[in-house]
Amino acid sequence: MSILYGKDILRTDTLSDGEIDLILSTASRFESVLKAGGRLGNMAGQVLATLFFEPSTRTRLSFEAAMLRLGGQVITVADPRTSSAAKGESLADSMRTVEGYADVIVIRHPRKGSAQEAADAVAVPVINAGDGAGQHPTQALLDIYTIQKEKGSLEGLTVALAGDLKHGRTVHSLVYLLARFGIQLIFVSPSVLTMPAEITADLKKMDADVSASSDLAAAMRQSDVVYMTRIQRERFEDPAEYERLRGSYVVDVAMIRQANPGITIMHPLPRVDEIASEVDAYEGAAYFRQAANGVPVRMALLALVTGCE
Ligand code: CP
Repeated sequence: MSILYGKDILRTDTLSDGEIDLILSTASRFESVLKAGGRLGNMAGQVLATLFFEPSTRTRLSFEAAMLRLGGQVITVADPRTSSAAKGESLADSMRTVEGYADVIVIRHPRKGSAQEAADAVAVPVINAGDGAGQHPTQALLDIYTIQKEKGSLEGLTVALAGDLKHGRTVHSLVYLLARFGIQLIFVSPSVLTMPAEITADLKKMDADVSASSDLAAAMRQSDVVYMTRIQRERFEDPAEYERLRGSYVVDVAMIRQANPGITIMHPLPRVDEIASEVDAYEGAAYFRQAANGVPVRMALLALVTGCE
């Protein structure tokens, strides 16, 4: 059994270097099998439960595709209005119930810390698919997998992360992985949407090379990758504040022409207006390839935590 057998995947800062390497190498192995037209039956007879208390396209469907690609089966709550949460059932009671139906549970919930609470309630492995403005570790793992594939190596890279760094759970998870690989980080955000202080303090303890800017064009001249994020409308108490901030940063073809040649454009998606659609034709626009990488990376996670790798 692997070092991840039976473990929960709740955040990136608690993963060891060995665990990260194992996830990335297992994902690469699964991707090669799929690309060669091979079939996998590693998880035949096992059931994945996906419990989504917030909307999702990529995370839920790529987890479900991953399980099906591994020969397993899926049960799902895609809309909390159709689950007994709508009748007031506690998260812990829902988890204890679903544990009786599934071998592994993937959960997305609007409350920061809910994934840990869910994992504490059950013995089966729990994977955090996003807990409010907390973390989104599986997105970060597929992001680093994507960077490695797009650039050939993680060595000596500079990555600019732009947009809503305050609420963006994908960047909250990703920066720990980028720092672990010695990648230089440039944070680009409006002054009211900067990276939370506890994360910048952690990065400082890791001796990460971090700078901050409000100038996206300047950051793109220095970067190998720009990771755009959506201003997270659903996290704002004041809709007027969201309206004031939306559209703060938009990447278009004119900006790419002025950027570091060959810059890779990433986005966890969904995008609203952060990347002009004209950018889609640019060969360094990696965001749909990034979304597709969710399948092998999530296959690796499901297989490793259940001992089916
Ligand atoms: N990147 C991401 O989490 O997308 P979804 O919200 O569609 O799952």
